[in-house]
Amino acid sequence: MTAESMDKLVALCKRRGFIFQSNEIYGGLQGLYDYGPLGVELKNNLKRSWWNSMVYERDDIEGIDSSILTNPLVLKHSGHEETFSDPLVDCKSCKSRIRADHIKENKCPECGSEDLTDPRPFNLMFKTNVGPVEDGSSFAYLRPETAQQIFTNFKNVLDSTPHHLPFGIAQTGKAFRNEITPRNFIFRVREFEQMELEFFVKPGEDEKWHKVWTDLRMDWWEKQGIDKKNLELLEVPKDELAHYSKATVDIMYKYPHGLEELEGIANRTDFDLGSHSRGQSDLGLTAKVDKNTDSNAKLAVQDPDTKDWIVPYVIEPSAGVERGFLAILNEAFKVEELEGGKERTVLSLKPHLSPIKAAVIPLKRNNEDLVQKAKELKNTLQSKGLGRVLLENSGNIGKSYRRHDEIGTPMCITIDFESLEDGTATIRDRDTMEQKRLDISSISEYFKEIIDN
Ligand code: GLY
Repeated sequence: MTAESMDKLVALCKRRGFIFQSNEIYGGLQGLYDYGPLGVELKNNLKRSWWNSMVYERDDIEGIDSSILTNPLVLKHSGHEETFSDPLVDCKSCKSRIRADHIKENKCPECGSEDLTDPRPFNLMFKTNVGPVEDGSSFAYLRPETAQQIFTNFKNVLDSTPHHLPFGIAQTGKAFRNEITPRNFIFRVREFEQMELEFFVKPGEDEKWHKVWTDLRMDWWEKQGIDKKNLELLEVPKDELAHYSKATVDIMYKYPHGLEELEGIANRTDFDLGSHSRGQSDLGLTAKVDKNTDSNAKLAVQDPDTKDWIVPYVIEPSAGVERGFLAILNEAFKVEELEGGKERTVLSLKPHLSPIKAAVIPLKRNNEDLVQKAKELKNTLQSKGLGRVLLENSGNIGKSYRRHDEIGTPMCITIDFESLEDGTATIRDRDTMEQKRLDISSISEYFKEIIDN
């Protein structure tokens, strides 16, 4: 994959309604994207697949959905106010602002000048006012990670569910980072979605669980259609670890623009629960407490045997929805050569991720009997609850097939005059382009088999 293939993907995303530049009619806003009719389906399917595997298919994980606006004290104690920054360099010639680690050969990437400032830390969190007074005394942050409200809700979830260690809390949702240089399409953006699990374990069992979750997450990405040969595990060097991490393994994917992080799996130890429980002396946390800024929380569990209080360790698999979206599109995107020198573009998405699960196509758009029969089948398939089914009434079968190949629809079903006589329809498979005739009465079952798998 190359930068050229990234350009083709970007063009496809716009042409077919996956992704648009945000605020485009007013010139856009850098680092933000909107998801169109197909993009929102694919994004939702990806998040649903993650939620199924985390929450529904296990008995030791609960989900939450917490607020985006965050009390600054949460992010003070989490260490984000102090350390969540990137090194910023200014170009004195063209006034560009650049992330220091994106500079090559000490030259400004915009104008080539070597007249650059020394790097200084730039905090990535967005602030906003809360309430009617704009004097800066009452502000909140837009959360930079969904994880913190999982930690602040640790006791609430524990007290309202029957779990003991090990157990996890999962959350998907928006996070915000004021990236110095957003780039590579939806890879590095300022507003994005995360899929995060905080999995709480006994201290001492953390390294074992770190390995377990790394393996599980590799397998999950493979099930989303990513070839393992395009994935690599990277042990993050000690001097590059986030402030809360004892060890982090990144799942790296070969994006069109290079090998980059798709998901990080961090061992956050007892850093966060401990920081939010400062001063709880029976946890051995004896820092001097400031009543105005410290919580009174005890984010800990009692050992059922010894009755000692322990602060659990946390393993955190944290994935970016947009990064997953891009990797999955890149993996599924193919341009095939057909006989006669023609080409076809196909998105070989796993059916559970496809934005449209099936297209039902009447052979002639103005024939009421054909359209009625197609509508009935569309409604039957739609009622199975497996995702969106489309009535494709364009009147041009060849064009419809091409469009649905390009957007990754696993099957097209054509209703023709024979269908009216003998109750059969033609099913065309996206990947093989093979066509077969099936009884319309058996199509629901066939559809379920393909999409459920
Ligand atoms: N929660 C980890 C991260 O946002 O990078």
